[in-house]
Amino acid sequence: MFENKIAVVTGGARGIGRAIAEEFRRSGARVCVIDLRSNDYFVGDLSEQAVLEAFAHKVIADYGHVDYLINNALPLMKGIDQCSYEEFNYALRVGVTAPFYLTKLFAPYFAPGAAIVNISSSRDRMSQPQTESYTAAKGGISALTHALAVSLAGKVRVNSISPGWIDTDCAVYEGPDADQHPARPGGKSHGHRPYGALSLFGQGGLSDGGEYLYRRRHDPPDDLSQRLWLEAAGEGLSVKTAICYYSRHHGNTRKVAEAMAGEGEADLIDVTARRMVRLEGYDLIGFASGIYYGKFHESVLRFARQYLPQGKPVFFVCTYGGAKGGGPRDVAELARERSCPVLGVFGCKGYDTFGPFRLVGGIAKGHPNARDLENARGFFQSLKKTYDSEETR
Ligand SMILES: Cc1cc2nc3c(=O)[nH]c(=O)nc-3n(C[C@H](O)[C@H](O)[C@H](O)COP(=O)(O)O)c2cc1C
Repeated sequence: MFENKIAVVTGGARGIGRAIAEEFRRSGARVCVIDLRSNDYFVGDLSEQAVLEAFAHKVIADYGHVDYLINNALPLMKGIDQCSYEEFNYALRVGVTAPFYLTKLFAPYFAPGAAIVNISSSRDRMSQPQTESYTAAKGGISALTHALAVSLAGKVRVNSISPGWIDTDCAVYEGPDADQHPARPGGKSHGHRPYGALSLFGQGGLSDGGEYLYRRRHDPPDDLSQRLWLEAAGEGLSVKTAICYYSRHHGNTRKVAEAMAGEGEADLIDVTARRMVRLEGYDLIGFASGIYYGKFHESVLRFARQYLPQGKPVFFVCTYGGAKGGGPRDVAELARERSCPVLGVFGCKGYDTFGPFRLVGGIAKGHPNARDLENARGFFQSLKKTYDSEETR
């Protein structure tokens, strides 16, 4: 699958890095590891500029180009009580500066279709006590990822993976480690233990670490690693989508949103749920609503005002009894103000028993029907393709 591809893996002598390196080798790639520990390619300290330069020089001298750069090496895990000034800086040099500098050194040598995968962590968003050096570095590499992604757009795909705990030693975790984090986003279950290094790929960078694996922990690891590796390396990359919906009358809009979510990685967010939401981590945001008096329900606009990040690609979905009127006009206006490109609008009929229609048993009976839902799935698929196209990257 990766025959004749050149993969650079930092920290590739142990743990997650070794699993990634082995997976690449198994798939036919030539792997250039850099690690402090002994390995078959390059031993060196990633915190040193001269070492990074010597390593990059060797890779290019040996192979002439790079197809995949996996910035995996792990910075020190020390907290506010124990971590010295030097140790904190060391963690940042390994965890953030080295990924930046290797990318810079390899920039002229990335092959067409090349991909960078930065190994971040669920710590980029939440913490356990006494993990400041690690957490700061993981936050740094996550932010570095989106900056590089736009700087290198059209040349190299840049993504990050943010897994929860990865059990590379089959250890038994207890207490906060087993629970993972005091803050659990979105009420998702994070109280799991991953079953091995390759489960990294089961946590899919493009998803929130934890939940994905939790659902799939019984799947065969090999299948997981291979499929999700492809995602992480950018082939068949999934587009992480949030569909923020209001659906009260008959749950019509929710049915449509669920059909779309069934087509890929999409989280459904009820805009009336009254909990804190972060949309920054999504690639694509959908706003969905039944039509109420000719427009989206006002709670969708309120929600979008509060949470829609600047510049995020959006799409709209509506269901309506007879006519959608202005439809998503107000939210579309907000999107325009925030420089969010609108990638598409989907609408279909939805069973309506409002007011006088109730007397006749309602209109648009049976909608959304199987065909509506099929159209919704098709729309969502084509939307993801639009997202993947160069114009929106
Ligand atoms: C208070 C109210 C106002 C509505 N206004 C419209 C309207 O202006 N145009 C229309 O076509 N349908 C209208 N409908 C019908 C809904 O848009 C339609 O049933 C929609 O599918 C409901 O979505 P939901 O079940 O996801 O809430 C209205 C329904 C209600 C309850």
